[in-house]
Amino acid sequence: MTDQDIHKGLAGVIADVTAISKVDPETNSLLYRGYPVHELAATQPAEAVAYLLWNGELPTADQLDALRADERSHRALADDVRAVIDLTPLDAHPMDEVRSAISVLGARDLAGTGSVLDAGGTPEENLARSIHLFAALPAIVAYGQRRRRGQDLIPPRDDLDYAANFLWMTFGEEVDPVVVDAFNRSMILYAEHSFNASTFTARVITSTLSDLYSAVVGAIGALKGPLHGGANEAVLHIFDEIGDADNVVPWLEDALAHKRKIMGFGHRVYKRGDSRVPTMKAALDSLVEHYDRPDVEALYATLEREFVERKGIYPNLDYPSGPAYSLMGFDTLTFTPLFVAARIVGWTAHIMEQGASNALIRPLSAYGGPDERHIAGFVDEAGTATISLRAAEAEG
Ligand code: COA
Repeated sequence: MTDQDIHKGLAGVIADVTAISKVDPETNSLLYRGYPVHELAATQPAEAVAYLLWNGELPTADQLDALRADERSHRALADDVRAVIDLTPLDAHPMDEVRSAISVLGARDLAGTGSVLDAGGTPEENLARSIHLFAALPAIVAYGQRRRRGQDLIPPRDDLDYAANFLWMTFGEEVDPVVVDAFNRSMILYAEHSFNASTFTARVITSTLSDLYSAVVGAIGALKGPLHGGANEAVLHIFDEIGDADNVVPWLEDALAHKRKIMGFGHRVYKRGDSRVPTMKAALDSLVEHYDRPDVEALYATLEREFVERKGIYPNLDYPSGPAYSLMGFDTLTFTPLFVAARIVGWTAHIMEQGASNALIRPLSAYGGPDERHIAGFVDEAGTATISLRAAEAEG
């Protein structure tokens, strides 16, 4: 085996076929089931895009109504989930809280499953589970932020769509349509992105015929890392560190001199810019105008210009979404849980796709450890000493 045979980080490896989304770095485009994501983000509610990713087609009016009715009836924070959240230390990372909440939802749903062989579920069961997780996550994320702020739980509202209700449960007030629209766009842009690390984790777990909840919990763990979902949170830490557009250049010179990674820039697949950025940047622009925060735009634009000029590495989706979520009023620690609430759609679509055409995912490794060696004095079942004690001692 040569070094060329080893694909560290699986870079460049095509691991399977998917019909869910297409990332094309050459044309800088992202398609969900064939539709350009920016067209979906500009025209569709998050629920319709979820339907598309799960089922392959956009819903008819009746299909959307049925999905919405199901989603609305599963919005409330269940008592056992709330109890688990309340048991989580207030200073734990919210991703740990979300991971535990999904775990308890899964344990409850799968309770009574006779053996591991029964946990995988039928396609119908897994679609229902996917819808119910999509419906349950906003309450989990919203309550998490409120709890950390010492605020009470806000029950869901049946008269609001997914995005507006999510914001209602978080802030306890109806926000301006500009904000709902920006939030809805972000949920759509984050919903799916082919074989990224967390989705691939979910597919690996599914490939063992484990259950959907275990796959989602594993995916949440993968998403938490700052090289993946944690980057939107990290962008805001950088913005806080810099403080003001005037500080960008000295801050950046120092960061690059210390070989720091600038969060929110770079991508494993897109090398000439992330296809989702223009849509999210437009949403950020509308929020900057709505909240009258030109200082945010100045910092954003200056850091982008100076970093791209020096390194030729472009922003990814986390760069505009971090400040956008901050302007909406979300705490920085809530950003990655928001990503979970959106990406649950893509994860579950991939879990169902993997289940429908499964092959256990089990790559090979090249061995790079010590040459074969033996335990001194060991005699195997046939009575053969692999190495004598004296020879071993002589070897040291
Ligand atoms: N800041 C500074 N340098 C960066 C960088 C960043 N955000 N992203 C890439 N680079 C540099 C690396 O230091 C490396 O330089 P070198 O060749 O001199 O060592 C080179 O570009 C290649 O980077 P590498 O990390 O090997 O590429 P990758 O394809 O594995 O990286 C990411 C993809 C996303 C992991 C990487 O760009 C990154 O860490 N970005 C910041 C985290 C982030 O925003 N993640 C969200 C992704 S959607």
